[in-house]
Amino acid sequence: MNDSTTKDTSRRDFLATTTTLTAAAATLSSIAPVAHAAGSGTISAALVGCGGRGTGAAANALNTKDGGLKLVAMADVFDGRLQGSVGGLSKRPGYDVVKDNHFIGFDAYKKAMDLLKPGDIVILTTPPAFRWVHYTYAIEKGLNVFMEKPVTTDGPSSRRMLELNKKAQAKNLKVGVGLMSRHQRALQEAQKRITDGEIGDIVTMRGYRMAGGDLASFRSKKWPGSPSELLWQISRFHSFLWASGGCFNDYYIHIVDHLCWMKNAWPVKAQATGGRHYRGDWVDQNLDSYGVEYTFADGTKLFFDGRCMDGAEGIYSSHAHGTKGNAILSAGGDCGLPSRLFSSLDHSKPIWDSKVPNDQRDPYQNEWNDLVAAIRADKPYNEVESGVMASMTCNLGRIAAHTGKEWTMDAVLKSEVELAPGIDKWTMDSPPPVKSNAEGRYPVPEPGKVIDREYAQQAQA
Ligand SMILES: NC(=O)c1ccc[n+]([C@@H]2O[C@H](COP(=O)([O-])OP(=O)(O)OC[C@H]3O[C@@H](n4cnc5c(N)ncnc54)[C@H](O)[C@@H]3O)[C@@H](O)[C@H]2O)c1
Repeated sequence: MNDSTTKDTSRRDFLATTTTLTAAAATLSSIAPVAHAAGSGTISAALVGCGGRGTGAAANALNTKDGGLKLVAMADVFDGRLQGSVGGLSKRPGYDVVKDNHFIGFDAYKKAMDLLKPGDIVILTTPPAFRWVHYTYAIEKGLNVFMEKPVTTDGPSSRRMLELNKKAQAKNLKVGVGLMSRHQRALQEAQKRITDGEIGDIVTMRGYRMAGGDLASFRSKKWPGSPSELLWQISRFHSFLWASGGCFNDYYIHIVDHLCWMKNAWPVKAQATGGRHYRGDWVDQNLDSYGVEYTFADGTKLFFDGRCMDGAEGIYSSHAHGTKGNAILSAGGDCGLPSRLFSSLDHSKPIWDSKVPNDQRDPYQNEWNDLVAAIRADKPYNEVESGVMASMTCNLGRIAAHTGKEWTMDAVLKSEVELAPGIDKWTMDSPPPVKSNAEGRYPVPEPGKVIDREYAQQAQA
């Protein structure tokens, strides 16, 4: 694989940009009034995006260790999805959503948040493209936030989120991002041990998420009688790069994120490969294999392989190699137990094996317990910058694969290619940002042919 070095100038620019953003945020944070600690009173919550994860996150919220949360409002663009979520949540203690507080449509998020008071919590679990729109309003309303990953899909939305986050910090808002690996107790201890030097300096990392075809979100053509084209694309958001960043961002982000966390750094560049082999009638924009080589400022490599092919070997784990040893981080899955450190490559000399108490084994519950504890204690808590950078690392690898070209983090962060422009003004009748051709096929990446963006604007014949 290519081993060329990044131009120092672009790395310096990128580091300068992120350092300035961090410093500005820290300054704002230090002068912020302590305004929104919820103390021991009841905290109300609203759910925006009532699908699978939204329902799960709301259940985690109602189940937090500190308790005292109630769900008072729900918003979605599909009534059917909202009703499904009501079915999953309504029997839980703390569910307190009267029918008048069910809101449907592109402005439903505002109506749901309008029912909250500063210091309450809004749960943002729509497809990622809407994240900055909803975060903007949450900050305006002085709300604490739990938002799911990914949080951005391109350079412009990443820059916007980082800017927005300065306002959240100035208002002392607590913001959790659903990168639950960072709340998995075994990975937290592994990260500390690795940072303390137990396996020496990390020089290489490896991550894999290789599974069946469904992971590429293969989708059939829009069928007659389905909702508007825009709503159809939203309901299949993993298939469309504008909505989600595709299967790369949505599925690979956990392993990419926690590997970068082990290194305490983000990569400065990437080159990648990928291909579409098995498509048949499926019309989504994803590739079905990805192989990415990320490079960090000190030359460390992170290799990530993603594959979505039925019948091929399923591998789903993460690993780090240091100058004195190595680590199995996620033994299976996004952040599966156990994590282990070794001083020998054949794993015959263990250094440490994770042990996690039963009541802390669910990272989805841990992340909610941690967020609510920070709100109750009014402790600084904001995961947006790392959430944006994890999303950016996915944007970087995905764009490198889709264009067949090496990209720097800096170039992707500064790119003006926005996948869903004007999304904050959409209505039910808005046209979708990508259109299909006469055969119902959407534009797909053409590595080496279309290199300044991920796909040609016009659908291919
Ligand atoms: N952390 C994790 O392990 C994990 C797991 C699953 C999903 N997720 C993330 O959660 C998010 C949602 O994923 P999901 O699997 O729940 O998808 P989903 O399709 O089940 O749910 C998304 C919901 O949002 C609604 N929605 C779409 N646009 C909306 C808008 N503008 N306003 C209001 N509602 C809108 C949809 O109708 C749907 O009900 C994604 O970002 C996904 O990556 C994270």
